[in-house]
Amino acid sequence: MYDFEDTTSTVRVTTVCVVGAGYVGLTAAVCLAQLGHRVVCVETNRERLATLQRGEVPIHEPGIEELLTRHARSGRLAFTDDLDVAMTGVSVALLCVGTPPGPDGEPDLRQLGRAGADVVAAARSDVLLIVKSTVPPGSCEALELLAAGHARDGVRVVVASNPEFLREGQAVWDFFNPDRVVVGIDEPAMQSLVTGLYPAQWPLLLCDRRSAELVKYAANTFLAVKISFANEVAQLCEALGADAHHVLTGVGLDARIGGAFLSPGPGFGGSCLPKDLAGFIAVSQSVGQSAPLARAAQTVNAQALAGLLSKLDASLGSVRAKRVAILGVAFKPGTGDVRFSPGVGLGEALARRGALVRAHDPLADPGSPDVEMVADPYEAAAGADALVIMTAWPEYRELDHQRLREVMAGHVVIDAVNVVSIGEVAHVDYDVYGVGRGLAMDFAPVLWPPLEWMLDVEPSDVAASR
Ligand code: UDX
Repeated sequence: MYDFEDTTSTVRVTTVCVVGAGYVGLTAAVCLAQLGHRVVCVETNRERLATLQRGEVPIHEPGIEELLTRHARSGRLAFTDDLDVAMTGVSVALLCVGTPPGPDGEPDLRQLGRAGADVVAAARSDVLLIVKSTVPPGSCEALELLAAGHARDGVRVVVASNPEFLREGQAVWDFFNPDRVVVGIDEPAMQSLVTGLYPAQWPLLLCDRRSAELVKYAANTFLAVKISFANEVAQLCEALGADAHHVLTGVGLDARIGGAFLSPGPGFGGSCLPKDLAGFIAVSQSVGQSAPLARAAQTVNAQALAGLLSKLDASLGSVRAKRVAILGVAFKPGTGDVRFSPGVGLGEALARRGALVRAHDPLADPGSPDVEMVADPYEAAAGADALVIMTAWPEYRELDHQRLREVMAGHVVIDAVNVVSIGEVAHVDYDVYGVGRGLAMDFAPVLWPPLEWMLDVEPSDVAASR
């Protein structure tokens, strides 16, 4: 599937301990093994560890299983829950543990502190901790202080930052095709221990630790701002009768702007963007800044769900006791992840308002009592008063709309990810509401700007002349 072969020649082969086998850690572990390194991956969750030791992959991520099998066989990759074993003869550890958001958006760094302290306690010689987890600026310095307190006598601890930019669903591809590798380290003598992990031809940004830590927060905040901007433009398109697809394509074709991350939809979700945006705001606040742009992106994102609910209310009268089918509960296509998923958020909000929610997803299952999952989109739609498409899975572009309409009780379709082709459903007795597309909307046609603005006369004169 991927061509891994031509990048391994320029790495400085190292034995590394990867702590945490979540999305970031597991991807790093198998990909570093592919680059030629010897990797021991430490996972403390028993069930996950047993799965990995059997050669199975607990997450849906193309390419990982192939590399895991290959390097379990090559002997370059092993999994354990024993840090003492993992750190024997090892002086480089990548920390890939979770930094989940706390109630105020501040990341919870306790797993990171614990992992750093445990690794250092197990190290028998000088140790370099490389923080891959997303952390606020200053965390590497704090971790260095904390970890040093757990080191054996004579063991020196250095902490470096090497944030991860992988996207779920294409993490392996992203690993081998990075836009940049960011390394923050304040010890020039140790730089090559981090940079040497990666092929020399990969684009490298070498900087201080605080800057490296902030790159990750700032990049994800900018992506969030871009998506929220697209959603704001889409709302405006709906009100004006313009087509957001054309508008945003036109905007994105400007090379200074770029077309990526300008697709309007039900708002961004997942484990990173909402969390890192909240983290960026919390970090700003901690130094007396209010981060108005980031806050606006958050507000617009929350409005996306509210907008969907009002579209449903407007088209159904009220959602109480209505049957609503949701297609797509994964936070984006290509993943089974439902963390901060707009589809799940919508299902739960509808259930709170008294609607009966049935959903389908090719991969994900939120396990929520509010959302009944079924195995087939047509089963989800059976008897539904309204259908909402929340994830742009390729199969939802191929739906048989005539069949859907026949099994549905109502005729309202809200396409929150713009996968329905208008031309193809023109013959179906449907009301399709897209995002930023004025399809079948009951809006009165608006002439904007009003003609009065174009005449060199007072509005009252125009009124009088009518
Ligand atoms: C993101 C970052 O892209 C990645 O660099 C970082 O390491 C982790 O966070 P990920 O969470 O996997 O990756 O998802 P991403 O593909 O970025 O999408 C995030 C959310 O934004 C999804 O809900 C997606 O549907 C939404 N999105 C994305 C839009 O609504 N419109 C777009 O144009 C792009």
